Amino acid sequence: MATELRRDQGRASLRRLRAEDAGAVAEILRQSPEAVFWPEASVREVLEWQGILGIASEAAGKLSGFLIGRQTKDEAEVLNLAVAPTNRRGGEGGALLLAAIEEFQRRGASRLFLEVRESNANAIAFYVKHGFSRSGRREGYYRDPIEAAIVMEGKLTH
Ligand SMILES: CC(C)(COP(=O)(O)OP(=O)(O)OC[C@H]1O[C@@H](n2cnc3c(N)ncnc32)[C@H](O)[C@@H]1OP(=O)(O)O)[C@@H](O)C(=O)NCCC(=O)NCCS
Repeated sequence: MATELRRDQGRASLRRLRAEDAGAVAEILRQSPEAVFWPEASVREVLEWQGILGIASEAAGKLSGFLIGRQTKDEAEVLNLAVAPTNRRGGEGGALLLAAIEEFQRRGASRLFLEVRESNANAIAFYVKHGFSRSGRREGYYRDPIEAAIVMEGKLTH
């Protein structure tokens, strides 16, 4: 999979996310309060889960973004996605998402979901641009601060 994921997107290139990236992932999350925060140890733990897909984007030899998703049977979900603030709006988030969609399809997923904070208008606009639509709402889903989640479903083509 590593080779299939390796490609250039502008100045960033994609590769498989590794356990050694956990500290850099936690650092990007620290700068991204809109995303769910996982400390380094949690990132390492999540990467061990069954059905996990982790993709990294790198710019100038440094981790600049990541996506962590999971697949159970034919359902896939994006668990976390963030791009370092200075690298945003350059297509990196889109490249990560498209690579994940391709990989989930290759693994036989037929549905793709994610949750996003209701106030996270930027991410919602981002997902809508990539063909996701709102499929539900979960009251009180997030902590620190407490907030509802919007559930969105992406398009997978088979
Ligand atoms: C959401 C996120 C991953 C997008 O990454 P990115 O690299 O900036 O995304 P892209 O450059 O591929 O953006 C593609 C499109 O998304 C939409 N978009 C992205 N950021 C946006 C913003 N700040 N305002 C409005 N639309 C935005 C636009 O349609 C954009 O296309 P355009 O630049 O041609 O207008 C990034 O903003 C981020 O890390 N946010 C903080 C963490 C987060 O919210 N994660 C989601 C948790 S569910």
